[in-house]
Amino acid sequence: MADLGVEFCGLYFKNPIIVSSIEPTNSLERLKSCIDNGAAGAVVKTLTDIPSMVTLTKHSKYAILNETGEIIKGKIPRNFVFYSRSGFSSTPYGEWEKDLGAAQVYAAKNNAHIIASIGAGSPETWALISKMAEDCGVPLVELNLGCPHTSHMSGAKTGVRIGQVPELAAEVVGRVVAAVKIPVLVKLTPEAANLTDVAASVKQAGASAVTVNSRFTGFAVDIETGKPLIGGPAGVGGPWIKYVTLRWVHDIYSRLGMAIAGSNGIFDWRDAIAFIMSGARIMQVGSVLMLKGYEWLGQMIQGIEAFLEEHGYGSIGDIYGMASRNAAGSYDQQFVEQSLHAVVDDEACTRCWNCVHSCFYDALGRGEEGVIQHLENCIGCELCFNVCPFDAIAFAPNA
Ligand SMILES: Cc1cc2nc3c(=O)[nH]c(=O)nc-3n(C[C@H](O)[C@H](O)[C@H](O)COP(=O)(O)O)c2cc1C
Repeated sequence: MADLGVEFCGLYFKNPIIVSSIEPTNSLERLKSCIDNGAAGAVVKTLTDIPSMVTLTKHSKYAILNETGEIIKGKIPRNFVFYSRSGFSSTPYGEWEKDLGAAQVYAAKNNAHIIASIGAGSPETWALISKMAEDCGVPLVELNLGCPHTSHMSGAKTGVRIGQVPELAAEVVGRVVAAVKIPVLVKLTPEAANLTDVAASVKQAGASAVTVNSRFTGFAVDIETGKPLIGGPAGVGGPWIKYVTLRWVHDIYSRLGMAIAGSNGIFDWRDAIAFIMSGARIMQVGSVLMLKGYEWLGQMIQGIEAFLEEHGYGSIGDIYGMASRNAAGSYDQQFVEQSLHAVVDDEACTRCWNCVHSCFYDALGRGEEGVIQHLENCIGCELCFNVCPFDAIAFAPNA
């Protein structure tokens, strides 16, 4: 059996799947459901001292859209869009004390961990709430510097409003690192100009790892009514965003070598494998659990195990960072691979002309007898190959 165990922030995780800070972690009972369904950990819904962020959750709104932007009714497409607005934990942080401790005891009995997410309103309370979590026995805190809603919420100078500014982020991290002995994980916002710069800044301030990353703010329009869905701007994400997230996982892994928790766009085990190969050690899974239920966790974990076994990998460590290490350092280092030209198979070609429509280098043209090839113009870009439905295009090396 493949070894799914991973080390992250000095802790052993029995598998790389944990639940992100989200509605399915908003109470002791929900945290237990995460653990019961096999998660190696769960991040508690963000604890806060900001009243407006508690109120916001009591007015949460969710819309799940399909690829044409319509609200879905029941059937969850693979590339769903989750457009939603909710705040931090609806239970004020002080009332979490007993349950945090109980959740950690429950998790520990199941060889798992509870991580406390913090989203405070002042430098002092970032430290205060983190210390409270540590005193409850929680082995890791995550600082929520990524919440997208705070930019539209009065009185909430937290989340993205701090995470976009490397200096502010470092100040908060420094305060918390000085106040606690447990490791500090920092959740980044994708709305910063350069996430790797923010990661470098929080690393310098003492963060042990980063969560890459929270969600974007979007604006979804109902074109029949001319109104935005759920009233206006809201958080937006879904499996389709994973490529953007993976770019930053790759960049931070490659340039800083930091330990990374991947989040934003993980639907199933395939995505988890792509995140590990890009440089994430553990994966935080969120939206998909709100749509598919906690049982989805088991399928993800089994899927990862089956993939490792089918491919002859003995452990997660065998694939960790693999794709990032295989990536060319810069675009010009990839040019050598493009020394190819397209070859059209006249017999397989049905004259649909897709390849001709998509050739922008004047290498393919329409002819009476079929596709006319101007080999001297072909740069081997592979677009014709992608649009050919009949497998009629191959590539050959240039002479
Ligand atoms: C409804 C909802 C509520 C969320 N609440 C929080 C939160 O309280 N704290 C936090 O750090 N992230 C929060 N997030 C972000 C998720 O933890 C996660 O980072 C994000 O949804 C991307 O992961 P996913 O693609 O698996 O959903 C929330 C996301 C959603 C959709």
